[in-house]
Amino acid sequence: MQGPNPNNPYPMAGFPQVCYLKNVVQNPQIEVGDYSYYDDPDGAENFERNVLYLFPFIGDKLVIGKFCALARGVKFIMNGANHPLSGLSTYPFWIFGGGWENSMPPKSELPFKGDTRVGNDVWIGYDALIMPGVNIGNGAIISSRAVVTRDVPAYSVVGGNPAAVIKMRFEPEQIARLEALRWWDWPVDKITARLPHIVAGDIDALGRDS
Ligand SMILES: CC(C)(COP(=O)(O)OP(=O)(O)OC[C@H]1O[C@@H](n2cnc3c(N)ncnc32)[C@H](O)[C@@H]1OP(=O)(O)O)[C@@H](O)C(=O)NCCC(=O)NCCS
Repeated sequence: MQGPNPNNPYPMAGFPQVCYLKNVVQNPQIEVGDYSYYDDPDGAENFERNVLYLFPFIGDKLVIGKFCALARGVKFIMNGANHPLSGLSTYPFWIFGGGWENSMPPKSELPFKGDTRVGNDVWIGYDALIMPGVNIGNGAIISSRAVVTRDVPAYSVVGGNPAAVIKMRFEPEQIARLEALRWWDWPVDKITARLPHIVAGDIDALGRDS
C-alpha cells in the first residue's frame, strides 16, 4: 500500500483547497517535504503569498519538513521585513532614492535572524504567524493565531502572542524515542503498515515493530 501520491498537487479527489505544497512552490528559497499540505479555499496553490518579505538579495530560506499540516492563513515573515534597529531612525530612507540611496547600511548590518525551519509532522493552526529565523521542532503544534517569535521545542503545543509552551504532547523519554525513530523518513509502505500505531499514539508498539 503506497498511500496517496506525494507528487499529486491535489491529493484529495474533488477537494482542491488542499494542496501538497512541494508540487506548487516555485521560489527556490522555499523547500517543502513530501506530504506537507496547505489548506485554503482561496487557492492553496498560491501559498507563496503567505511567505512575506522573502527577497533574493537576502537569500534566507523557508524549509518545511514532511507530513506538516498548514492551516488557512498561516504566514511566515522572513528577514526582509526587518528594518535596521541600530540607527537613530528605523525609516528606510535609501529605498526612495532622490539622493538618499547611498544611505543604505551594508548588508552585514541589516537584521538577519537566519532561515526559518519547520520540522516534520508539525501542525500549524489557522492564522498563525511565524517570525524570521524561528525553528519549529518535529511534532510541534502551533495554536491558531499564535505569533511565534522563538524556537518551538519538538512535540510541544505553543500558543498566544508571543507564543509560549502550553503543554508538552508526550513525556521527555517518549519524545526522545520519537525523535530517534523518525517515522516520517521510513519507506511509505512501512509507514502504511504502522499507521494504526502512529494514529493511536502507541509509541511502545511503534518502537517494537520498527
Ligand atoms: C492548540 C490546540 C490544538 C489545543 O487543543 P487542546 O489540547 O484541546 O487544548 P485546550 O482547548 O484543552 O486548551 C489548552 C490550553 O491552551 C489554551 N489555548 C488553546 N488554544 C489556544 C490558542 N489558539 N491560543 C492561545 N492559547 C490557546 C487554552 O486556553 C488552554 O489554556 P489553560 O490550560 O490555561 O486553560 C487548539 O486550541 C488549536 O489552536 N488548534 C488549531 C485549530 C486550527 O487552527 N485548525 C485549522 C484547520 S487544520
